[in-house]
Amino acid sequence: MRSSVQRSPHDTGANPAPAGDSQQNHAELTASHVFHRFPRNAMPVAVAGDGVYVIDRQGKRYLDASSGAAVSCLGHSHPAVIRAIQRQAEQLAFAHTSFFTNEPLEELAALLSASAPPGLDRVYFVSGGSEAVEAALKLARQYQVERGEPQRTRVMSRRQSYHGNTLGALAAGGNRWRRAPFEPLLTQALDVAPCYAYRDRRPDESEEAYGERLACEFEQAIVAAGPETVMCFIAETVCGATLGAVPAVPGYFRRIRDICDRYGILLILDEVMCGMGRTGTLYACEQEGVIPDLLVIAKGLGAGYQPIGAVHAARHVFDAIVGGSGFFQHGHTYSGHALACAAAVAVQKALRDEHLIDNVQRRGPQLMQRLRERFGMHPYVGDIRGRGLLLALEFVAERDARTPFPAEARTAQRIKASALEHGLMCYPAGGVIDGKVGDHAMLAPPFIIEEKHLDEMVDKLAETIDAVFPDAARRR
Ligand SMILES: Cc1ncc(COP(=O)(O)O)c(C=O)c1O
Repeated sequence: MRSSVQRSPHDTGANPAPAGDSQQNHAELTASHVFHRFPRNAMPVAVAGDGVYVIDRQGKRYLDASSGAAVSCLGHSHPAVIRAIQRQAEQLAFAHTSFFTNEPLEELAALLSASAPPGLDRVYFVSGGSEAVEAALKLARQYQVERGEPQRTRVMSRRQSYHGNTLGALAAGGNRWRRAPFEPLLTQALDVAPCYAYRDRRPDESEEAYGERLACEFEQAIVAAGPETVMCFIAETVCGATLGAVPAVPGYFRRIRDICDRYGILLILDEVMCGMGRTGTLYACEQEGVIPDLLVIAKGLGAGYQPIGAVHAARHVFDAIVGGSGFFQHGHTYSGHALACAAAVAVQKALRDEHLIDNVQRRGPQLMQRLRERFGMHPYVGDIRGRGLLLALEFVAERDARTPFPAEARTAQRIKASALEHGLMCYPAGGVIDGKVGDHAMLAPPFIIEEKHLDEMVDKLAETIDAVFPDAARRR
């Protein structure tokens, strides 16, 4: 029987081993007992980190232009974070939160609450982004139950969104390729269009008019479903992996916030990728002028030094639960892990003390300018977009018609493999448009990046793109 799990353009793990290393890597692959993410592929073995570089066992240095998957915002060898982890490990690594609170947990919650949008001053900690989305969805449900509205069961989300790979988070997301094999296990979210101006804004429409059209469609979907049945709406404030660094058009989120309020629907903003300074403010929603009821963070929170995620809950959500049943019916063994929290405290302090979000605001436009200069007229680059240090190039077969490459061209995989060969980590994905076609490559470098690294990044990306599209020079 043929497998229903298809190799997909989204599956950018298809890294042929870098030339020269393949023999050894294949040997390692055969010997490995790890159930790897891409078990058929050889991977270089990462052995060290040095600032914005990852170093493999052969000594090859990779410029980390994507912070892995928008994680390593402080690079790979931040001394203060390393010291904080060492100190905490000597003091207390873990104490189960059903028995104790702990100092780094309290300090982290206080630090985050002090800088979060007003009212979001209770923080629930978990071990990563998917877990944080699960917690947010369960909080939303319990809130509605505690308020005496148990008929509110439906999650609304946007097509081609990504909120994580656990079953609840996957069910909430609209990424068709990731969902497909698991569809029978997933509850059905009510889906609406993403805010994706490059492809969906009509030529005669202003950005504001496009946002308004989406907001009207959003309201119509709620009315059609029965507003009293809708529990929450979840969206990435700036779309990350699936669409590729896509901010909303001006005014869109304010209209969404109003509509959610009108119908008693909780607004969950997923800032797992775009939050924690990545787009130029600690929380991406600060730039949208909205405050969600639940705000989900991860990735940059621990900067890869420890696995950690969190949900900020608005006071009314916290009060409804504490004043109702009295507790949130949830919890994981590693919630509020002392070592993870200590690392995240050190990351937060580094962001603040080293003014790294200022650096995001400075380097983001510098990188954007370099990308536009180098690739703005490239025949296969249709769009260059993003915010802060979350940027992406969308690749097209025909610029004017914005025609995507066929899925069989495996453009995203080829970009990723070629980049690794050139000593560059970027974050390409395929299936951008509908789960099948559409390719982008995202850049999300560490916030400590310097101008010389931007030059190196753009040079290596140009070599990568030249190798993938050798006929581009003729078409210019
Ligand atoms: C927006 C968004 N939400 C949730 C997740 C899931 O996070 P994790 O991989 O830490 O479970 C991701 C991961 O890429 C993400 O980008």
